[in-house]
Amino acid sequence: MSDASTTVASPFVEACFGRPHERVPIWMMRQAGRYLPEYRNVREQYTFLEMCHTPKVAAEVTLQPLRRFDLDAAIIFSDILIFLPDMGLRIDFPGGGPQIENPVSSPADVDALVEFDPAAGEHAVYEAIRICTAELAGTKPLIGFSGAPYTLACYAIEGKGSKDWSQAKAFLHRHPEAADALLSKLAESAARHLQAQIDAGASVVQIFDSWAGSLGREDFETFSKPYITRIVDAVKRPDIPVIVFARGVPPDWQTGIGADVYGIDWRTDIRFAHDALAPAGVQGNLDPALLLGPVELAVERTARILDRMRGLDRFIFNLGHGVLPQTPPETVGTIVDTVHSISTDGA
Ligand code: CP3
Repeated sequence: MSDASTTVASPFVEACFGRPHERVPIWMMRQAGRYLPEYRNVREQYTFLEMCHTPKVAAEVTLQPLRRFDLDAAIIFSDILIFLPDMGLRIDFPGGGPQIENPVSSPADVDALVEFDPAAGEHAVYEAIRICTAELAGTKPLIGFSGAPYTLACYAIEGKGSKDWSQAKAFLHRHPEAADALLSKLAESAARHLQAQIDAGASVVQIFDSWAGSLGREDFETFSKPYITRIVDAVKRPDIPVIVFARGVPPDWQTGIGADVYGIDWRTDIRFAHDALAPAGVQGNLDPALLLGPVELAVERTARILDRMRGLDRFIFNLGHGVLPQTPPETVGTIVDTVHSISTDGA
C-alpha cells in the first residue's frame, strides 16, 4: 500500500503551488474516454455506471491514457454525479447522458435529501484510487474530483442536461431557502467526497462547475461562489492543491474563492486570466475542437499559449474543456510532446 497522504513530487503539483519545475505540465480533461479505442473496448463490455462501480475497471481506464502519452497526471475515472444516488436521487445514463428518475421539484424534496457520507457504504471510486496510486507508485500524481454545488443542483433539479438550465434557475429563484439548503447539502457532500479521495491517495483535487457560465454575476455570487468557497475551505491543506474550473465564468468574478489554480476555458485569454487571478495559478486553455482540425494548427495554437505564459511558474497546460470523442489519439500525443519539448527548450 502506498502512503495515502503523500503528495507525489511532480511538475504538476509544483506548478499548482507556483514552485519552480523543469517543464510545463500537461493533462487533459476527459483524457480517459471514447476517443481511445482501448476505452471503447472496455466500454463495450460494461455500462458507464458499471465501469464507475467496478474498481479494477475504473482504475484500468484511468491509466489507459498514461500508457499511451507522457501526461503529467492521471484523473480518476468516475463522474461528478456519482454520489447523487447516496443522497436519494436515482440516476442512470441511458443514452450516454445522465437522467434522474426523481429530480428535485419542491422544497420538500430538498428536505428529503441526505448528505453523502463516504463512510456509510462501500464506494468503488476510493478503491479505484487506491489501485491507481499503487500502480503509479509515486511516478505521477492522481487527480480526484467533484462537481460544484451549482452544477450538481442543475442536474438534481432538471433531471438531465439542458441548454440554459432555466428550470433549475427558476427553482433557485422561487425558493431561496430551499436553494440554500440544497446547495449546502451538495457542498457538504462534495467536500466529504473530496476528502475521502484525498484519504485514498489523490494528490490534487479539481472542482468542476461546468454550468456556472449560465449565471449572471449576481446569481454566480449567490448560487455558486459561496458554496465552492465552502468546499475549498473544507479541503484546503498545504500539500494538496485545489483546482476550481468554473467554465464560462470571467476570471475576475472568481477572485477570493481560495483555489490554488483556476481552470480557464478557451474563450478567455490565458495570460489575462493569469494576471487577474494571481497569485493563484491557471490551467488551460486550448479549444478542444482544435484537436479535430489540421494537427499543424493545433501545434501552432499550443505554441502560442506557451508563448503567452512563458516564464510563469503557476501554469498547467490543458484543454479549455474535455477531449471530444472524435479526437484522433495521435493528435493528443502530438500536443503532449509539443508542450514538453517547447517548455524544456527554454524557448
Ligand atoms: O476527465 C476524465 O477523464 C475523468 C472522468 C470524468 C467523467 N465525467 C467521465 C465520463 C469526469 C471528470 C467527469 C465529470 C463530469 N461529468 C462533468 C464535469 C466536466 C464536464 O465535462 O464539464 C459533468 C458535467 C458530468 C456529467 C456527465 N457525465 C455528462 C453530461 C455525461 C454525458 C456526456 C458525455 O460526455 O458523454 C456523462 C457521461 C460520462 N462521464 C462519460 C465519461 C467518459 C461518457 C460515458 C460513456 O462512455 O458513454
